[in-house]
Amino acid sequence: MNLQVMINISYLVSCVCFIFGLKMLQSPLTAKRGNIISASGMLLAIVATLMHKEVVNYTYIFAAILVGSSIGIFAAKKVKMTGMPEMVALLHGFGGIASLLVGWSIYHARPNIPLFTTIDVFLSIFIGGVTFTGSMIAWAKLSERLPGKPLVFSFQKIFNFSLIAFLIILGIIYCNNPQENYSVLLGIIAGSLVLGVMMVIPIGGADMPVVISLLNSYSGLAACAVGFVLENNLLIVSGALVGANGIILSSIMCRAMNRSLAHILFSGFSAVSEQKKEKEQREVKSLSPKDAYYVLEAAKSVVIVPGYGLAVAQAQHAVRELEELLEANGADVKYAIHPVAGRMPGHMNVLLAEANVPYDHLIEMENINRIMSNVDVCLVIGANDVVNPSARDDATSPIYGMPIIEADRAKNVFIFKRSMASGFAGIENPLFYKDNAFMIFGDAKNSLQALIAEF
Ligand code: TAP
Repeated sequence: MNLQVMINISYLVSCVCFIFGLKMLQSPLTAKRGNIISASGMLLAIVATLMHKEVVNYTYIFAAILVGSSIGIFAAKKVKMTGMPEMVALLHGFGGIASLLVGWSIYHARPNIPLFTTIDVFLSIFIGGVTFTGSMIAWAKLSERLPGKPLVFSFQKIFNFSLIAFLIILGIIYCNNPQENYSVLLGIIAGSLVLGVMMVIPIGGADMPVVISLLNSYSGLAACAVGFVLENNLLIVSGALVGANGIILSSIMCRAMNRSLAHILFSGFSAVSEQKKEKEQREVKSLSPKDAYYVLEAAKSVVIVPGYGLAVAQAQHAVRELEELLEANGADVKYAIHPVAGRMPGHMNVLLAEANVPYDHLIEMENINRIMSNVDVCLVIGANDVVNPSARDDATSPIYGMPIIEADRAKNVFIFKRSMASGFAGIENPLFYKDNAFMIFGDAKNSLQALIAEF
């Protein structure tokens, strides 16, 4: 069997590993194995690619692998669970810049390429550039190096649409005669980098998760275009898989927030949130862990709503311990999982799995809402936006229409948080002022441990 056939068979096996790996990520029970299978597929793909006859310099490649892997291992070990979304944004950006650089290098390395490949070069630079700067802005917003709220200015949409049209015209000029139009290519590179910034700065608040998954999709499409440029089937397939899964995830998240993609991309989250709202005048009621214990001790059904603060406090083990105590006391305990709770898709599932919470205790939003009015106590632990009743009741709220976990309908709601500060979307939460709501102020882990001590 000649080498090229062996490489192609290895690529085929890698593709199968990616597809099965992705499939297994569907359930927390099989996700770990799925990840290992996908990673093995990637290892096989790298080895097969290194066998390629066009590889001219192993020294540079191994040096790059060494440096890249060291940075990757260091970053992955150092990143906190709550910093994952920023890291994911950075990784998408690196995928984008890699596609841009490969496309650019083709101009110099292969002067006489057919029209089809020239178009792919344009696409890999265009999409790669947008992905790179867009992801960097998303990273800066998520890590609070830039303000998380949308930055909007007049004629922004017109500017963005004009820039896209201009880049397409430059693309047509370049593809017609690539060798004579190097300056046009440089213009495309610069323009796509600017477009990435302009597309992400007007997005903010609770819309950011959708942007992250959209950039994930762009990075896949850019890689797919590079696959065509390099005539590498594996890159085409894996790029298409990433592109498709990013789009599917974006549409799932849009549905979870009851918003359309176009609305998120073009309307600016702040448009409504900047309206001055009447401050709630009512007092909030606070409760000590000891008082909370007396109510919980008598409760027959308890629902726990975890949110981002649970991850910040690293209180997943404490919450599991409390769950076991409540169950031993005869209560039925369930966890209500909102699709965008936390800062990344599946954040709460991963966190609770770490504390060995049985998967069948996790109930989806629609199902828990059906029984909420019969629940004795709802424990909202570090969650805020996902239980904000304004999304249901206040048509002027920026999150209006986003489905929520209706914690306010439980007989009693205990809210574990440190202060009256708002959540990610930066808006007031009327839940805290309801008659059946009680705040348990403090770090979630400390409060839970105090409650556990009472039991
Ligand atoms: P948030 O609305 O962000 O609220 C988290 C709450 O946790 C805050 O109000 C904070 O209040 C509290 N908190 C922080 N540290 C705490 C600690 N150590 N102990 C106790 N409480 C603590 O969280 P959520 O309800 O999970 O909603 C998620 C939000 O993030 C949504 O707006 C969503 O759109 C957005 N988002 C989601 C994703 C994905 S994909 N899940 C990605 C990016 C953004 P204090 O400061 O007063 O303690």
